[in-house]
Amino acid sequence: MTLEKLQELKEKSRPVLEERLKEEDNTEVKDGNFILKGDYYRKQTRIALRNCEIIRPESIEEYIALDGYTALGKMLTEMKPEDVINTMVESNLRGRGGAGFPAGRKWAEAFKYDSDKKYVICNADEGDPGAFMDRSILEGDPHSVLEGMAIAGYAIGADQGFIYVRAEYPLAVKRLKEAIEQAKEYGLLGNNILGTDFNFDIELRLGAGAFVCGEGTALMESIEGRRGMPRTKIYRTAQKGLWQKPTVINNVETLANVPVIFQRGVDWFRGIGTEKSPGTKVFALVGKVKNAGLVEVPMGMPLREIVFDIGGGVADDKAIKAVQTGGPSGGCIPVELLDTPVDFESLAKIGSIMGSGGMVVMDETDCMVDIARFFLDFTVDESCGKCVPCREGTKRMLELLQKVTSGEGTIEDIARMESLAETISSASLCGLGQTAANPVTSTLHYFREEFEAHVKDKKCPAGACQALLEYYITDKCIGCTKCARNCPASCIDGKVKERHIIDIDRCIKCGNCASVCPVGAVIKR
Ligand SMILES: Cc1cc2nc3c(=O)[nH]c(=O)nc-3n(C[C@H](O)[C@H](O)[C@H](O)COP(=O)(O)O)c2cc1C
Ligand code: SF4
Ligand code: SF4
Repeated sequence: MTLEKLQELKEKSRPVLEERLKEEDNTEVKDGNFILKGDYYRKQTRIALRNCEIIRPESIEEYIALDGYTALGKMLTEMKPEDVINTMVESNLRGRGGAGFPAGRKWAEAFKYDSDKKYVICNADEGDPGAFMDRSILEGDPHSVLEGMAIAGYAIGADQGFIYVRAEYPLAVKRLKEAIEQAKEYGLLGNNILGTDFNFDIELRLGAGAFVCGEGTALMESIEGRRGMPRTKIYRTAQKGLWQKPTVINNVETLANVPVIFQRGVDWFRGIGTEKSPGTKVFALVGKVKNAGLVEVPMGMPLREIVFDIGGGVADDKAIKAVQTGGPSGGCIPVELLDTPVDFESLAKIGSIMGSGGMVVMDETDCMVDIARFFLDFTVDESCGKCVPCREGTKRMLELLQKVTSGEGTIEDIARMESLAETISSASLCGLGQTAANPVTSTLHYFREEFEAHVKDKKCPAGACQALLEYYITDKCIGCTKCARNCPASCIDGKVKERHIIDIDRCIKCGNCASVCPVGAVIKR
């Protein structure tokens, strides 16, 4: 395959794709690009997800029909690796896997070291609970990631790439395998790509699904054939990474952005998003929101717009209480700060992070102490155990949180948590431990009164902590006896047509009475 042949294939494939899309009628054309129809997509700007649900992921021709591999072709024939790196630096594309480190700077660093071998790794581990953006890109548009990797390979002088993908994503694995095969058949991967002297091959490595394996050094340990545990960083990965060779690790979404930057130019890319965080970010919008799903929006869009204009607001018309961003390394943002623009700097300023894009909407019935406990529970399970502050510290902190949610916590326990948080963050070896306390510290910062209500008044203001709540029958009761008949503990007394009463000492808090009461007389308090 040559660049001319690629162009011919594009011209041949485009009308076929257009015909199919016309028949399916789920897209419209805007500025020469296909976009998905519907209110949900109106406020979105899709760059990383540009082809998802539009092209058939099994078809390399459909990817090529929408300019696929033209960026790679153009640079192999017209650009030097230095020019590619400069373009990336100018674009200021920042890593979408969590830390937001500029991809161009990472590539420039790997470029400058002389080595017989260099590597490009695509991090497709995606371990954050609730996150599925990388998986959607791999399943819906695998070639964009392969092209991004080949461009990175050309830029830094690597001829080998690895995609580290979790085995729990079998469809993503299947699509990637097919896509690699197709790209090789078409001469877009392998030796002498597009008739040039550039060689680049990609292999898959399947991970067993441990969250810590997404951490760069653990991921490399795993690819090298050892247990995926973080290693002490003596050198930067760009200098000595995989098998001690210069290596670039980028996230799936980061790599999917790369080809478009070369197709449409730096000015176009920087025209989207904010000065310091250009482009878009894909979020997994979940929780108590009406339209849950993946959303890709320009950086800088206020949280409120994402939750209300795209997500449709809170389900069951309850009041919104907070939004948790950044998964287990992130934090809770209270409703007063809902107008915060979502970008790397603004979120960090208010004690949260963008992370890989988890966004959980919480309403008035969610207990913030319990939310902190949920994320810490995840971290405790996923800690690799290599270092004490993370292995032991997170466990002790979880015990304190459990004490608080079960009504046995004291005010001193809150101070203990704060002190533990400091030690765990500063003394842990890797990012997992260093950020493990974030969900706790941010909820303590914004929702301290909820912690205090649990320890001082032995109440859960949200009515979520089982141990602290009481079922109570109000004077709305019409004496229909339904609650008493459905109570498994037989602890409701009352005559027909008279107000009923719950014996709270015998109540097992199953909630049956509240769900069967026809007039909403049973409340949690
Ligand atoms: C515990 C832990 C888990 C991580 N998991 C992932 C992951 O699943 N995917 C990912 O791209 N980055 C993950 N990261 C971040 C990576 O270490 C690394 O920063 C990232 O892959 C770099 O790519 P980027 O610059 O394109 O974001 C994780 C970090 C930590 C500390
Ligand atoms: S901080 Fe936690 S996950 Fe990271 S190396 Fe230490 S024990 Fe393992
Ligand atoms: S919560 Fe369950 S056990 Fe308690 S009063 Fe209601 S029905 Fe009975």
